[in-house]
Amino acid sequence: MDNTLFTEERQRTKKQYEQYFFYLDSREHRAFLRTIATHITGEKILDLGCGTAGLFEELLITRKKSEQLTLIGIEQSEVIAQKARDKSIPHTTIINAPVCSFDFPQESFDSIIMVSILHELVSSHKLPIIAQLFACLWQALKPGGKLIIHDGFRNDTIVANLQIHNYDKRILLDSFREARPDAYFYPYGAGFVSSLTHIFDFVHKCYYLENWEHEVKEYYYPMSLEAYSLMFGALGCTTLTVKMYPETEHVHEIKKDFSITSLLGAPLELADCNCLLVAQKNGKT
Ligand SMILES: C[S@@+](CC[C@H](N)C(=O)[O-])C[C@H]1O[C@@H](n2cnc3c(N)ncnc32)[C@H](O)[C@@H]1O
Repeated sequence: MDNTLFTEERQRTKKQYEQYFFYLDSREHRAFLRTIATHITGEKILDLGCGTAGLFEELLITRKKSEQLTLIGIEQSEVIAQKARDKSIPHTTIINAPVCSFDFPQESFDSIIMVSILHELVSSHKLPIIAQLFACLWQALKPGGKLIIHDGFRNDTIVANLQIHNYDKRILLDSFREARPDAYFYPYGAGFVSSLTHIFDFVHKCYYLENWEHEVKEYYYPMSLEAYSLMFGALGCTTLTVKMYPETEHVHEIKKDFSITSLLGAPLELADCNCLLVAQKNGKT
């Protein structure tokens, strides 16, 4: 693939890496990865943006020792890739590269997984690069192979009311609006009206302040569910699973700092905004 448009690897301070590793291997995140692992089938598996490879560790708990597994993780950050390698996970190779530069072999993988990387790719790459990546992924899947994606989804049809109870968060909204002119926030009474996606994108970012400069530019909720399933159809995949669920992290702080309601006052803090999508490449299973 053309690799001229790659963004620089995000650099973190030592403390930020430690916090990130703590999160990636936290009990909650590992429990979440365990549920993703239940969808993985076959023996040759590719994880894009694998982080510290917790997904492979969770997968191995459920697999027989006799299985001839080949587990390949691609991770753009050198520091994070090394942390994954240091775990010496059986059957596992960690490649330190941006996913778009990976030379995907044809019809090789039984499962290809993207957990929380698609929104980062969509935020930092032009659309043709993303389309080209998906074409490569499709070719790299064996017939009957699975593409497993976890990420946020856009919901622009719900318009909501945001009230901000915390002065610092009110200042952050100005910084968010400046960095993201696409996100409208109309003043309404003592608060703002916007689409639920823009509100969630802003509110959920407010708890990752250590990386604010980077996070503010990311589109946490990159595609609508319709766009995901149209993309799968265009690729020649059948959608097997669509699970939607709310963002539960920081929910207590969110309820203290904000009110997010429908225009008629129904609470929306726990409305669905994340999804797990499993699609299968058409062909023999
Ligand atoms: C939110 S983390 C998720 C990590 C892992 N999938 C998990 O759930 O434990 C996203 C990961 O994708 C990596 N990443 C982002 N853009 C990438 C790219 N273009 N190529 C490879 N890795 C990338 C980041 O460095 C980060 O480790």
